[in-house]
Amino acid sequence: MPEALNPWSSGQAIDTRRLFDDFGIEPIGPLLDLLPEVPAFMRRGIIVGHRDYRPIALAIRDRRPFHVLTGFMPSGHPHLGHLLVMREVVWHVEQGGQGMITIADREAHAVRGLSWEDCDRYGREYLTALFALGYRGEAYFQSHNNALKDLAFEAATRVNFSALQAIYGFATETTLAHAMSVITQVADILYPQVAGEPAPTIVPVGLDQDPHIRLTRDVANSLRFFLVEDRGDHVSVRAKNAPEGGVRAVAKALPGSKAYEGHVDVRGMPCELVSEVVRGVERELGGFGFHPPSATYHTFMPGLVGGKMSSSVPDSSFGFTEPAAAVRKKVMRAVTGGRITLEEQQRLGGEPDRCTLFELNRFHMCDDDVELAEIRRRCLAGETTCGACKQATAERVLAFLADFRERMDEVEHLAAEV
Ligand code: TRP
Repeated sequence: MPEALNPWSSGQAIDTRRLFDDFGIEPIGPLLDLLPEVPAFMRRGIIVGHRDYRPIALAIRDRRPFHVLTGFMPSGHPHLGHLLVMREVVWHVEQGGQGMITIADREAHAVRGLSWEDCDRYGREYLTALFALGYRGEAYFQSHNNALKDLAFEAATRVNFSALQAIYGFATETTLAHAMSVITQVADILYPQVAGEPAPTIVPVGLDQDPHIRLTRDVANSLRFFLVEDRGDHVSVRAKNAPEGGVRAVAKALPGSKAYEGHVDVRGMPCELVSEVVRGVERELGGFGFHPPSATYHTFMPGLVGGKMSSSVPDSSFGFTEPAAAVRKKVMRAVTGGRITLEEQQRLGGEPDRCTLFELNRFHMCDDDVELAEIRRRCLAGETTCGACKQATAERVLAFLADFRERMDEVEHLAAEV
């Protein structure tokens, strides 16, 4: 499998063409018209693609229920690189989504070898940051959630080792705990529909998490009792793993339908409505009635020193509670798209598309599109120096962090209660 889509590899070389053509990820642009309000991360191409976002966009537009879930692996302090997904979750909650956050302590323990104590400590820092950004909703730690573990076991009945090998490149030396952390993530993604009602679920993640999304969509489908298909002139409902009497129960719930051996045909009823009725029957029969989860995929901000942003490269980002002086230093030392001499800079202009600070502004520090366009224009025109731009960016960052910290202090108790 390509490096770029392995959740545990480092580095990012995205070929969007391949994403769309080979992986079935779709561009988000065509769906933006459905949304009452388009957030910066969608306007600015920070989210490069999605899987099945349409049901989410429609739920937002029509004010129907949907879930929003994402997870954080507590393998270190939360930092700049986590801010985007946090904002995506908060935005979806503001748009009417029911929020659920998982702290992936099982994954951190299994894959990164972190102690449970560290997982707990870091996990609460992530939650504090989320609440400070305005998150309202539920949260849990994987290792403390028994219903989640039951769901993971159920999901595991649908996944074999050759699938894990094909999807993740697992080999004979892969630990069982690593495989268990994968199935736990599958359960995470389905969990909102078990803890609450079945409904479309949006999972905002980085591109590297797509294998988990694909696997979860397969598992969600495979756990269904019935398959509902639009056949043009009628809708067909087929029993897959339905218990005894399943077909009869569906036929009874759909007046005017015709029951056959193993399937039911319905005429004169829209497919969506049939789907909802069948989901209800499935739930009554003890099934899950899952909607396959949807996902948005964001690109990654480059590290401030160029290359990848990572907790293992301290200068590549800053933590949310780092001292202001240290943060300022990192911004002032960031790799920019400036020219070698001032004369060249004035003559040729800078290169914002190769500048980590322009990216920082584009991702997080400049909400106003007009202002961002002006920063870009002045840079391209050689009207500003990197020094001045760094100063201005540092001021924005420090103002943001000062406010953020104040809020974090106010909501720390919320994180402690999880
Ligand atoms: N694997 C994710 C990471 O490495 C964390 C995670 C666990 C997650 N469960 C999830 C992300 C569910 C999205 C949805 O960061």
